[in-house]
Amino acid sequence: MTPTRPIPAEPPRDLYGKDRPDRATRVLELIAETRLRWTTFVNRKEPPTLVDDFRIPLVVVERRVEAHDTDVISLMLTAPDGRKLPEWRPGAHLDLELPSGRVRQYSLCGDPADRNAYRVAVRRIPEGGGGSLEVHDALTVGTPVTVRGPRNAFPFVLPGYGSSAARVHFVAGGIGITPILPMIRMADRLGVDWSMVYVGRSRDTIPFLSEVEGFGDRVTVRTDDEHGLPTAADLLPGVGPDTSIYCCGPVVMTQAIATAVRDMPGVELYSERFSAPPVVDGTAFQVELARSGEIIDIPADKSVLEEVLKVLPTAPYSCRQGFCRTCKVNVLSGDIDHRDTVLTSDERAAGDMLICMSRCAGDRLVLDL
Ligand code: FES
Repeated sequence: MTPTRPIPAEPPRDLYGKDRPDRATRVLELIAETRLRWTTFVNRKEPPTLVDDFRIPLVVVERRVEAHDTDVISLMLTAPDGRKLPEWRPGAHLDLELPSGRVRQYSLCGDPADRNAYRVAVRRIPEGGGGSLEVHDALTVGTPVTVRGPRNAFPFVLPGYGSSAARVHFVAGGIGITPILPMIRMADRLGVDWSMVYVGRSRDTIPFLSEVEGFGDRVTVRTDDEHGLPTAADLLPGVGPDTSIYCCGPVVMTQAIATAVRDMPGVELYSERFSAPPVVDGTAFQVELARSGEIIDIPADKSVLEEVLKVLPTAPYSCRQGFCRTCKVNVLSGDIDHRDTVLTSDERAAGDMLICMSRCAGDRLVLDL
């Protein structure tokens, strides 16, 4: 039989080690602590970002007038808790969820290196869908605003960094300067050979004029009141086969450039317009709004969205160019002529349709609206 030892009333003093470490142990502890501190310093992490959040709550921290006619303002948006914002590259945009529930897209026009704030700029368009008026009237400093993104539908590929072109030429029309601004900043910073033509109705209507003119004689400013309406040749001076063109502006401008570039072999063209593309090869048909029973005639040269908004001004939309998906509607009956490139085959099979782009392959569509 194994003899048992009495259980002590208290644990022995050295059960968890000695009362006082010996000298060798203290030296080892000191080395370990120093090493731990150094490793912690070297591997220190940036504050957590909001990169995984699809919807980002921000707040307006600055609001500035950017055109002399006061019709363009810029907004600086930051996270209320000071967290760093998701990264973006020139050409990216945000979806702004406005207090009314409208969603509108605006290009990021600040510095991509600034992870603390996003800058967007908005021109007041009284005859538009109300989004720009809401930004101007409701988004004062201190207003919370939720954004989605950033997303990039207008990526900038630099010569030497993915583009075979030797130089870049930018063309911006009015508020179309917003996606271009970060591009010219990046091109300039990286020593790319670039030039730019910036057009507008008059100098008073052109936003960020002093910021752009700060780049010196690389930039040519042309205004309709001083120089007349520009031709494609005016917009593309010195453009040759080694050039990539980035342009953003009114449809008439981007179309004139696209037509001219067709006869310029070797020229790359990247453009973003801020209104819906014209309807090509359209035919007239009708849509029925299932919830009200209203019948709407869709002319051959108009989009479904355009005509639906006349009777249902709150119908959701944003880009009007078939990439944001905001205008997606389910079709209850009728054959859809899909003209977008973003809906999945499952969505199409389920009867979904982007009403800013797609049309009817027959006489009538019944929409779940
Ligand atoms: S409004 Fe953006 S896809 Fe239709």
